[in-house]
Amino acid sequence: MTTPHKTPALHSALPAHVELVDVAPRDGLQNIATAIPSSTKIQLIDLLADAGLKRIEAAAFVSPQWVPQMADGAAVLQGLKPRPGVRYPVLVPNLKGFDAAMEAGATEVAIFAAASESFSRKNTNASVAESLKRLTPVAAAAAALDIPVRGYVSCVAGCPFEGPVAPEAVAHVAHELQELGCYEISLGDTIGTGTPGTILPMLEACARHVPIQRLAGHYHDTYGMALANIHASLLFGVKVFDTSVAGLGGCPYAPGASGNVATEDVVYLLQGMGIECGIDLPRLIAAGNFISAQLGRENASRVARNLSRTPLQCQ
Ligand code: HMG
Ligand code: MG
Repeated sequence: MTTPHKTPALHSALPAHVELVDVAPRDGLQNIATAIPSSTKIQLIDLLADAGLKRIEAAAFVSPQWVPQMADGAAVLQGLKPRPGVRYPVLVPNLKGFDAAMEAGATEVAIFAAASESFSRKNTNASVAESLKRLTPVAAAAAALDIPVRGYVSCVAGCPFEGPVAPEAVAHVAHELQELGCYEISLGDTIGTGTPGTILPMLEACARHVPIQRLAGHYHDTYGMALANIHASLLFGVKVFDTSVAGLGGCPYAPGASGNVATEDVVYLLQGMGIECGIDLPRLIAAGNFISAQLGRENASRVARNLSRTPLQCQ
C-alpha cells in the first residue's frame, strides 16, 4: 500500500480513529440456507478477534422459524472465549429473544426497527410503531440488568417494497431508539441503494435528534456505493461503521439485498487515508478467506482477492 497522505483540507475533517463492528457472523451468515456448524461460526469470530476487531456481532436470538440459520445463538456464545476488550453483541427482536440471550451469557444486545412500514411488517410482522412498542420492555429489561443496547434502523435510504425513504422517517425511528436508551444508532442501508446524495441528507436529519457521535453507518453494498457512503459519512463526522468480512450478508426479508461492505475494503480505505482502526489487514484477509472457503464461495472483498493473489503487497 502507498504511504497514506491526507491533504490539509481532508486532514482537518477526518477522524484520527474509526471503529469497525464486524457483523459477518450475524448479518453475513443469516441469509445462508444451508446450516453452518456452530464450530465454524465460533472459529470465524475467533479469527476476527485475532485480526483486532473489538466489536463482533456474534449471533441473533430471533425466531428460528423466521431465520433458521441463527437458531444456534446460544451454542455460538457459549463457545466463545472471553477476551479483554472484545464485545460480542447479539441481535434480539423481542423479550423472548432478550431472555434467551441473557441465559446464553450475552453481555450486549442490539434491537432493530425500520423506517419503512412495509419492510417492518415483512421483517418483524409488526408496524413501525408496534415494533417500537415491542422493543420498549426489552430496553427496560436491559437497563435493569445494566446491559448496553444498540439500535438499528433499517431502510435508511430505500425500501425494497416502497422505494425511497424520507430522511425524516429515519430520524424519527433513530430518535425513538435513542429515547429507549440505545447508546448508539446504526443506520442500515439495507438494500444498498443509497449514494452520498441520499445518505448525507439522511445523516443531517438524524443528527438533528441524535448526536453524531452516537450514529453509526451500516451500509450494504448491493449497488457498489458503500465505500462512497462511508467516505461521505466520515467527512460528516461518523466514526463507527458496520462491515462484514468477505462482504458476506443480506437480510432474508429484503429481496435482492447483498452483503454489507467488506471489512477488508473498509480497512484498506481507512489505512490509505491514514485513519487508525486497529485491524491487522493480512489477518483479516485470512479470516475472510477461511469463511469463504467454508461456504464454498469466492471472497467478495476486492482487496482480499487482490492481496491474496499478491500477498507481498499487504505486508
Ligand atoms: P411473529 O411470528 O409475529 O412472533 O414474529 P410470535 O411472537 O407470534 O412467535 C412466532 C413463533 O416464534 C412462536 O413459536 C414463538 O415462540 C417463536 P411457536 O409458538 O409457533 O412454536 N419466537 C421466538 N423463538 C425464539 N426466539 C425469539 C422468538 N420470538 C418468537 N426471539 C418476530 C415476530 C419478531 C419474532 C419475527 O418476525 C422475527 O424473529 N423476525 C426476525 C427477522 C430477522 O431476523 N431479520 C434479519 C435481521 S434484521 C437485519 O438483517 C437488518 C439489519 O442488518 C440492519 C439493516 O441492514 O438494515 C439489522
Ligand atoms: Mg444489515
